[in-house]
Amino acid sequence: MKKKTARWLRDAYFDFFKKRGHRIIPSVSLVPEGDASALFISAGMHPLVPYLMGEPHPLGKRLASVQECVRTQDIELVGDSFHHTWFEMLGNWSLGDYFKEKAIGWSYEFLTKVLQFSAKKIAVTCFAGDKSVPRDTASAKVWRQLGIPEERIFFLPRKDNWWGPVSQTGPCGPDSEMFIDTGKAKCSPGCRPGCGCGKYIEIWNNVFMEFEKRADGKFYPLKQKNVDTGMGVERTVRLLLGLEDDYLTPIWQPIIKTISELAQKPYKGDWRRPMRIIADHLRAAVFIIADGIVPGNKEQSYVLRRLIRRSVRQGESLGLSVGFSRQVGAAVIANRDNYAGEYPELDNLEVILSVLEDEEQRFRRTLQRGLRELEKAAQKLIDAKKTMMSGKEAFFLYETFGFPLELIAEELGKSHLKIDEKEFEEEKGKHQQISRRAAKGRFKSGLADNDSRSIAYHTATHLLQAALRQILGSHVHQMGSNITPERLRFDFAHPRPLTALEIKKAEELVNQQIEAGHNVERLVMPFNESRKMGALAFFRDRYPEKVSVYKIGDFSLEVCRGPHVKNTTELVKLGRLVIVKQESCGAGCRRIYARFEK
Ligand code: ALA
Repeated sequence: MKKKTARWLRDAYFDFFKKRGHRIIPSVSLVPEGDASALFISAGMHPLVPYLMGEPHPLGKRLASVQECVRTQDIELVGDSFHHTWFEMLGNWSLGDYFKEKAIGWSYEFLTKVLQFSAKKIAVTCFAGDKSVPRDTASAKVWRQLGIPEERIFFLPRKDNWWGPVSQTGPCGPDSEMFIDTGKAKCSPGCRPGCGCGKYIEIWNNVFMEFEKRADGKFYPLKQKNVDTGMGVERTVRLLLGLEDDYLTPIWQPIIKTISELAQKPYKGDWRRPMRIIADHLRAAVFIIADGIVPGNKEQSYVLRRLIRRSVRQGESLGLSVGFSRQVGAAVIANRDNYAGEYPELDNLEVILSVLEDEEQRFRRTLQRGLRELEKAAQKLIDAKKTMMSGKEAFFLYETFGFPLELIAEELGKSHLKIDEKEFEEEKGKHQQISRRAAKGRFKSGLADNDSRSIAYHTATHLLQAALRQILGSHVHQMGSNITPERLRFDFAHPRPLTALEIKKAEELVNQQIEAGHNVERLVMPFNESRKMGALAFFRDRYPEKVSVYKIGDFSLEVCRGPHVKNTTELVKLGRLVIVKQESCGAGCRRIYARFEK
């Protein structure tokens, strides 16, 4: 039998879908380009949003990929046998081409013929329907025709069988999920796919993206009916190998072994949870750093910081000594052949490992300071003859030093002190509400929702890059971009601040080009050819063999996914583009904010 590795699975998947007319697209950087609506790419469809909305894709209507993803909402769930922050997702797409019958038929064929899962073990779910979208009887019919008996077809509500949009607005639809029945007994009479007891493990999801959720919260039919599928690599490999724990697969074992050796403890019983968290968080951290992020207090940087710090805390519980993050990070990189995708950015080994090392050291110092603060707080309570720390104070320590409640309770317990846990939970709830509100604000809009102002800013970003290159020199290239309907932010390579004159010149040049009324043309060509023509490309991304190149008059030429305005005069009605702020974004990197002003 062939070895059922992640690479084997990837090759089998690509072969299967290539034979059925699909073209393979590469995994893009974890940091969404020009899209402020989400921090990380969280699904294979994420970089395809413009195409699901109707932009033509240069490689056609049938695509497949293995995409690296980060799901920050799952961070707290990591520690069980199957939740991961960073993971790889295989997927195939129909952009207004085939729909339910072919998609489901191929999924069934791949599961039973290629992966050789017994048809008897497959259970599926379909959307039960609600006020806005009817029951998905069409998918159920296809499953029945394939031979799945009625008792293994479950109709579930929106909470289970609806997928997307990936941020607040965008393409979405009902889905049909496939599960492997592990043969375990039902945990209760109501046990069904989606129950977390471990009897049914989800293996694949087919989403029928025929709706767009707009900012008014309503669902509108899309121009085209799409299929979006996602298969988690880790879980599938584990099921193929008949294991009960993702971390026992070759994908994770070298990392787990390193942790186990450093801790001199076996991967067994209660030791498993901290080991899984360390392995998961440091693996995610390595890939995030490899994509150009460093730890900090905002956005992606904050997620990275949290991951490393949570891992350090678990490291302490295992008694791992200073520097373990670097060693585990090295194992993550050395293990690269065991991942489904190829990640050349991991060649940047020394930078990645020293970022991990620095952050661990910094946090260990904070931890020591935090413990001293905690001791002082305990002494104050004792002096005031109190026996309980207020929830507010405990929450402050939790927030400031990243101490889990158990740690605070344990330390206070040494002096027979307790925590007002009810008040702590209330504080935490309040704080979560505030963060949720903030997140809503951030998700208000972005390029993912095709907002017309965002599209205009996207085109303006191309003009700005071309203008800066003319004025400052051809060393200028994009290092990042973030667009909202209110402004554009553009990071680029340049060693020093821009002078007032340079800013004025750049503004003038961009506005001149806008007023010139250039058509924005989309050309499709092999990536190599686009480079030969001098088209700019975002250095962090990997590109498919064929790409879209956007040409704005003779002024700008960039490889890009779009969308863009059709003619630059569309920007005139928004006002003049003005550079409102500049700052540094690290050594050799400048950041510019610009917006249209009337
Ligand atoms: N986008 C779908 C998912 O992530 C396939 O499950």
